[in-house]
Amino acid sequence: MCGIVGVVGTRNATDVLIQGLQKLEYRGYDSAGIFVTDETRTETLIKAVGRIAKLQEKIGIEVNGSTGIGHTRWATHGVASEDNAHPHVSETGRYVLVHNGVIENFKELKEEYLVADTFVGQTDTEIAVHLIGEMAKTSATTQEAFAKALKLIQGSFAFAMVDREEPGTLYVAKNKSPLLIGLGEGYNLVGSDAMAMIRETKNFVEIHDNEMVIVKKESVEIFDASGAKIEREHYVAELDLSDIGKGTYPYYMLKEIDEQPSVIRRIIQKYVVDGEYQVEQGIIDAVTEADRIYIVAAGTSYHAGYASKEFFEKMTETPVELCLSSEFGYNIPLLSKKPLFIYISQSGETADSRQVLVKTSALGHKSLTITNGPGSTLSREADFTLLLNAGPEIAVASTKAYTAQIAVMAVLAKAVGAANGYEAAKEFDLEHELALVATSMVATLDDKEKIANIVEGLLTGTRNAFYIGRGADYFVAMEGSLKLKEISYIQCEGFAAGELKHGTIALIEEGTPVQAIISGANTASHTRGNIMEVESRGAKVITIVAADCAVPTDDIIVPTVHKYLTSLAMVIPTQLIAYYATLQRGLDIDKPRNLAKSVTVE
Ligand code: AGP
Repeated sequence: MCGIVGVVGTRNATDVLIQGLQKLEYRGYDSAGIFVTDETRTETLIKAVGRIAKLQEKIGIEVNGSTGIGHTRWATHGVASEDNAHPHVSETGRYVLVHNGVIENFKELKEEYLVADTFVGQTDTEIAVHLIGEMAKTSATTQEAFAKALKLIQGSFAFAMVDREEPGTLYVAKNKSPLLIGLGEGYNLVGSDAMAMIRETKNFVEIHDNEMVIVKKESVEIFDASGAKIEREHYVAELDLSDIGKGTYPYYMLKEIDEQPSVIRRIIQKYVVDGEYQVEQGIIDAVTEADRIYIVAAGTSYHAGYASKEFFEKMTETPVELCLSSEFGYNIPLLSKKPLFIYISQSGETADSRQVLVKTSALGHKSLTITNGPGSTLSREADFTLLLNAGPEIAVASTKAYTAQIAVMAVLAKAVGAANGYEAAKEFDLEHELALVATSMVATLDDKEKIANIVEGLLTGTRNAFYIGRGADYFVAMEGSLKLKEISYIQCEGFAAGELKHGTIALIEEGTPVQAIISGANTASHTRGNIMEVESRGAKVITIVAADCAVPTDDIIVPTVHKYLTSLAMVIPTQLIAYYATLQRGLDIDKPRNLAKSVTVE
């Protein structure tokens, strides 16, 4: 994954890089580094293992400069160490490079061009910068050397490079990995996302795959793969600096959990105006014409796809199939005659999903991306986009994006169903039902202290746990379980309650925590039966039950919402359970180990 940032011009480069890297830490945080220089070639290269704070501790106040590149790493090739931390330097010492992505042919490049070179670490990036140095031996300019190397490199990359002999220039290129140019007055920037640069500018220019960009303080020149110059308009980002602050919250995750009712209301405001659905006709037509919808997603977004399947099928009268993006290539479903592919992705940058989009587009199939990332790769490359409007989600554990994804899927289903006069859509007052969801969420969030107390002791010391549920609750169980394990490190399985007895119940022993979800009368009696089965084997059960089928002894009672939208209400306690369990275990809630927010490697 990794995050990169660069600056050239009239700013204090060190300050811009550190601020930018802090915003990019969600992309990886096992080591970091910066390189800064200026017109007099006063240079500093500093790296540290661990978070940006560790890097900051090593940087003296005298380190500033006008040009710089920085990197925060999520290890792919080689352990987290200073040797493997970026920036990396060419054999000749002339070029300094930061990289996000994975170079697939790094071994071949090393064997063919760099046999005589000495490497300090194990990264593919070091091969790339050595290769540029190698190409420079037969090139008239750095631009030519960079272009030659780019032609040889296969895989995903976002590069920002400084030629130490030319300290007022950044050499930039991308393929598959995200990268944006930020425009300032007297300075320009480059970064993995807009948030990394938003303190400095709101004006951005997209870079497309296989383009190279030369960034100086007064100019930005874009070249396509053939070397021809391209003109591209900039756009103004709607982001606000305050959107990306924690405010008075101790962690982003809690802030983002709390934001969910207002995100749901915002989605209603954006997508329903005077009773009319604000979904472009092309999208309505694409869904209407499709004979089958394939939802492609990963992680939480995949769970949001499952949570949307039932209402989507009913309201659009079209079958929906779920595909894990990382598995799609190995388990290709038999495609229908007129498929529509819906890519659900908070970031819009997930490499696993993107590689499927590339394949399905090549086959000529239409695509729609549902994302929180305007201008993201999946958004740009799909035929259509629907935005979540959830505001930046910073915590690695996705919460408000999940509920926003389901809500936007509901808007789409309703818009299609209404346009076609389908019965299930006619009967479903989406605006009213989503408003009830927001109210239900507020009630659960207001009672979060109760959830904190329930969790205390039960999950603080346990090594494993289960979520169980049937029907829609099974999908929430999958999501609740992912949330718990990714931040608390408790091994947790989200299980279909009825499936437990077919083997997995063997894992239940004295004190095993089991969270059981019941959102409807149709599943209540059977799931309660499963609760008794695990309790009689020693499990400690927490029941999370919708008010209309709750009994006084239930632990967490959630105000009832429409059966299509139960996931939106029932997931809130599971998010809070994960949050409080992690808080009580004293772990870093926003930045769990081994993870990154944006998974840009396959
Ligand atoms: C969510 O808590 C996870 N961090 C993760 O599963 C995430 O949902 C997954 O990586 C997909 O990301 P995307 O939505 O940005 O495509």
